[in-house]
Amino acid sequence: MTKFTTGVKALDKLIGGIECGAITQFFGEFGSGKSILMHQLCVTVQLEHNLGGLNSFAIYIDNEGSFNPLKIEKIAKRFNVKDALKRIFIKRTWSFDDQLLSLKLTEEYINKYGVKLIIIDSVISHLRGEFPYQELLLLRQSLLKDFMNKLLDICSKYDVAGIITNQVLSITQDEKHWMLKPVGGNLINQYCKYIIKLGKFKDKRYAKIFDAPEDDTNYVFFEIKEDGIYDLSP
Ligand SMILES: Nc1ncnc2c1ncn2[C@@H]1O[C@H](COP(=O)(O)OP(=O)(O)OP(=O)(O)O)[C@@H](O)[C@H]1O
Ligand SMILES: [Mg+2]
Repeated sequence: MTKFTTGVKALDKLIGGIECGAITQFFGEFGSGKSILMHQLCVTVQLEHNLGGLNSFAIYIDNEGSFNPLKIEKIAKRFNVKDALKRIFIKRTWSFDDQLLSLKLTEEYINKYGVKLIIIDSVISHLRGEFPYQELLLLRQSLLKDFMNKLLDICSKYDVAGIITNQVLSITQDEKHWMLKPVGGNLINQYCKYIIKLGKFKDKRYAKIFDAPEDDTNYVFFEIKEDGIYDLSP
């Protein structure tokens, strides 16, 4: 099994690193750190093998305009990766069609270059905007299914790590209690080998395996700095 480091010990411990040949999902509210983590993974996949990387390229399908080359430069400096931007293919998309087509095009790049990571940030934003009404939910879900099928197909065929970020839906249980679930529900989740929630509790940022019991051992903590995601300092 091929894996690479997130650059954060706590996160590596949680899921054993980012796995190739499978899809990992990170979901959470805005500002929970999804995009910054995606930037970091574009750098850590480039690390040499002895440093936990795969010495490989990354593809970033940017559906929300989140990609920021300056962030990559800062993170790359921290990890001592030279010319990191040269080994990241970025595709800004403007519609769901564009997102699906961009995914299909990744095969060409995978064949040509040593790509080991495909990021979809976020998987749902275009569809949510294009199909806002309940009546069209079935159509939306079938498009999403096509997309997830294709992604899993590519990841397993080429032993590439697929990562999707996802937004949250809050589900009210009663007046005082509510919980956050990933958008797209089981349809997306069934394609993901790992599903990780990013969140904030008081001032502490955490990651937790979705659906793991709510006990302390299932939470790991991290912090965000200018040059990426760090283990929480003691
Ligand atoms: N230098 C820094 N020090 C501490 N925190 C920072 C720093 N720079 C950015 N942040 C925090 O990192 C977070 C960035 O979140 P990011 O853009 O990764 O969120 P996201 O989960 O992708 O959100 P969205 O759903 O809106 O795309 C923000 O909460 C921001 O306050
Ligand atoms: Mg984001």
